[in-house]
Order: sequence, then structure tokens, then C-alpha cells
Amino acid sequence: MDTDLHELLRSLRVWDPEVTELPELDPAAAPAEPLPLFTRWLAEAAAAGQREPHTMSLATADADGLPDVRIVMLHGADADGWSFATHAHSRKGGHLAARPHAALAFYWPVLGRQVRLRGPVGTAPAEEAQADLHARSTGALAAALTGRQSAVLGSVEELARASEGAWERARREPDTPAPSWTLYRLRPDEVEFFQGDARRRHVRLRYRRGQREEWVRELLWP
Ligand SMILES: Cc1cc2nc3c(=O)[nH]c(=O)nc-3n(C[C@H](O)[C@H](O)[C@H](O)COP(=O)(O)O)c2cc1C
Repeated sequence: MDTDLHELLRSLRVWDPEVTELPELDPAAAPAEPLPLFTRWLAEAAAAGQREPHTMSLATADADGLPDVRIVMLHGADADGWSFATHAHSRKGGHLAARPHAALAFYWPVLGRQVRLRGPVGTAPAEEAQADLHARSTGALAAALTGRQSAVLGSVEELARASEGAWERARREPDTPAPSWTLYRLRPDEVEFFQGDARRRHVRLRYRRGQREEWVRELLWP
């Protein structure tokens, strides 16, 4: 069993030239702030055929400082921060209430690119969270109305019943609020852009907020 896994792992490649393009990242030509570069990289990932480039890993820590991570969707990025939405009572919601800091990671393999962010996390006003939810699909509303995210589930039948009710309500009343649904915003102190290079001279460009809130750009050893 183990041997098979190791054989499989050895047979797998990253950045296969058949399906990967590795563009140059010229640090001298990078913008003064990270947001325009992030926006461009997201658009380039989508244009290059990267599936689901707007999904990201969200890392949080519990009250004891123990880490956890999961995938969520990016809802927006602007001067207020990078936003995502979830239930306040979920595990990650509990973490963020106890320690309002998080990290995000995007990986866009078709271009050999990774973006990492770290910073404090705040919540948007409740009306904004509900408006954001109601502008999304019926399925998104149904999922948010299904409720009790991260609690122990008794059986798949219980979920099926709750979900059926939630879908019906979402179709019938598309403006139904999902009270625990919360829009969070991570305001980065650090944003790192990683551009893979075939010779392993990967470029790591980090933006870090300086003492006067200005962005400091620096390169990191790969
Ligand atoms: C592609 C993908 C996108 C997801 N997007 C979200 C999301 O935007 N919000 C969310 O609450 N959960 C989302 N999930 C589910 C989370 O990964 C996770 O299972 C759930 O939020 C519970 O996490 P927690 O127990 O750490 O709170 C997504 C999962 C996948 C695979």
C-alpha cells in the first residue's frame, strides 16, 4: 500500500511544461501596492484556464494557538481587504472570534504561481453580508440556510431533510436572511507573490506594511 503511494508520488510532476507556462516576474516592474498585482494575477490565472482560481486556503488558529485550514471562496478584494463569507458559529468562525487573525493562500498551477496573505480579520456590517449572500445563487442561499455548520451531524438523512427545507425556502423567499452568515475581511500586513521558475530560481516578492502604513517591497530567497 505504502509502496504504491510512494511510487505514485514519485511519478507525479509539478509544472509539467505540457500544461504549465511560467511567466517572468520582474520585481522592478511590480506595482507599488499588492492589490493591482493580485487582481492581474487572478485575471491571468482565469484566462490561462486555471479552474476555480477564486478558491483559497484559509488558515486560522484556535484559542490555544493550534492551526487549522480549509478552502473557502474569495468574495472580493479592495482597499478594505480580501473578503470571504461563512457562519459565525462554524469552527473557523469560533477561531476568528477568539483570535481575529488569519492567513490565505492561492495556488494557480497553470502559471506556477502562489499568493500568500496574512493579517487581522474584521467583520463587515450584517446588512452587507446578507446583501452579498442574496446576490449569489439559490444554492448558496440554501447552503447558508441549512445551518449548524461544523456541528456533529447525526445522519445523512438529517442533512437531506434540512437541506430540502432550505432549498425550498431559498426558492420561495430569495431574500430570507441567514443570521449567522458573516462576511469577513482580512486586511493584509503581508502579501507574497511567488512565481515559479523552471531552473528553481523562483521569484518571491513580498509586500509588507511599513511603520507609516506604506508598502515595503522586498525579495525573499526561494
Ligand atoms: C471549493 C470549496 C469552496 C468552499 N467555499 C466555502 C465558503 O466560501 N464558505 C464556507 O463557509 N465554506 C466553504 N467551503 C467549505 C469549507 O472548506 C469547510 O468545509 C467549512 O466551511 C467548515 O469549515 P470549519 O469547520 O473549519 O469552520 C468550501 C469548500 C470547498 C471545497
